[in-house]
Amino acid sequence: MRRIAVLNQKGGVGKTTTTVNLAAALARAGHRACVLDLDPQAHATTHLGIEPDGSLPSIYDVLVSNKPIVDVRREIEANLSLVPSDINLAAAEVELAGVVGREVILREALAADSQAFDYLVMDCGPSLGVLTLNALAAADEVFIPLQPHFFALHGLSKLLETTSLVCKRINPKLKVTGVVICLYDSATKLAHEVVGDLKSFLDKSRGLNVPWADAKVFDTRIRRNIKLAECPSFGKSIFGYAPNCPGAVDYAALANEVMGAVHIEVEPAEVKTSAPEPAFAA
Ligand SMILES: Nc1ncnc2c1ncn2[C@@H]1O[C@H](COP(=O)(O)OP(=O)(O)OP(=O)(O)O)[C@@H](O)[C@H]1O
Ligand SMILES: [Mg+2]
Repeated sequence: MRRIAVLNQKGGVGKTTTTVNLAAALARAGHRACVLDLDPQAHATTHLGIEPDGSLPSIYDVLVSNKPIVDVRREIEANLSLVPSDINLAAAEVELAGVVGREVILREALAADSQAFDYLVMDCGPSLGVLTLNALAAADEVFIPLQPHFFALHGLSKLLETTSLVCKRINPKLKVTGVVICLYDSATKLAHEVVGDLKSFLDKSRGLNVPWADAKVFDTRIRRNIKLAECPSFGKSIFGYAPNCPGAVDYAALANEVMGAVHIEVEPAEVKTSAPEPAFAA
């Protein structure tokens, strides 16, 4: 199983849209996919047609009350399952504050779960708090959705530093697989410049002992497409809502790229050099 955390502490960059539609595309390609919603906003849950009103068991019960994941997970369509979130999750940060090992609760819950998936895709909220740390502790890969404007790069250094710390202290397997360019507008010069800056930064990180040493910018660009913004309110993925629109084409292409991406699990090597200066410090 590939465990992917979709992460960027910046809000509104396309994390939920990517989580849901990438998982749906993988499911349609015949893989068993599961979306795990770790955001108290519960947007991925709503997007997949489940009302997050706090009345049904959710990831909150897994994290705070040790409920088995199997009791929370629900099937959305063929090959696609959801571990939903709900508003209660907003309190988890505080409720877990005094709990020893709170960052690895999700990892342990997944280890105890007998259901096998090919892809587990975790939607994180726009923060680097304990919920996101649970995703990073449980993941082996990080995908970073990024909207290519100037401020998008601010904060990326903090995000990468966090992956580096988690890798050193909690989860040595963690790797940043790639950056997904979302809300892409090919007509703008700035978008090209931001992607260029990002690629050259990643190229400079090759060979370093950092989780993003092999990260790439995915070739697929997720274009700005109004259908992608519309489909959450219908509780459907883009493939259920408008299967021929550019948004569906782009997420299907991203899924193809992800399926083809070779993910090699290696034991962490000795630190050969210190992490580079934060990439895009404000
Ligand atoms: N390619 C796209 N084209 C058009 N609209 C998009 C696209 N991607 C995302 N959106 C819309 O942009 C908004 C933000 O996207 P999304 O919710 O996926 O971001 P997010 O990073 O999950 O946000 P948050 O940090 O609040 O969780 C949503 O209204 C979504 O429908
Ligand atoms: Mg979101």
